[in-house]
Amino acid sequence: MSVNEQFQPTIVAFCCNWCSYAGADLSGTNRLQYPANVKIIRIPCSCRLNPMFILRAFQKGADGVILCGCHPGDCHYTTGNYYARRRMTLLFSMLDFLGIERGRTRVEWVSAAEGAKFAATMNDFVKTITELGPNRRLEDLRCSKE
Ligand code: FES
Repeated sequence: MSVNEQFQPTIVAFCCNWCSYAGADLSGTNRLQYPANVKIIRIPCSCRLNPMFILRAFQKGADGVILCGCHPGDCHYTTGNYYARRRMTLLFSMLDFLGIERGRTRVEWVSAAEGAKFAATMNDFVKTITELGPNRRLEDLRCSKE
């Protein structure tokens, strides 16, 4: 890869409808910038995220996946993010087993009022993934661009 063709990671961000998606919206309303590499998928609640979605995202070419939800205690469905947190803890162990670097997956709690936090989190995550380089684990060769 030449200097002009700097690696541009593909980031998938699963955001819960009630807080994090609204936080992303607020960051846009406030004209805060975060890279266009971040592709947001709105989900009803962080607990809607089946861990298989993350494995599938990696298989389909994502270099990093982030889950954003309401702060603990603030979930619209009361306890959804507690379930999500437990599931993600198990998924992190599985990703370790599969050899996927820990930094490629992250969980962040972002409220609807934290547009600045959303933008800062995405900027930081994109920087981390750019440093890690392209994800080659779980890659589906049928989807290869080369
Ligand atoms: Fe946001 Fe449940 S509604 S985490």
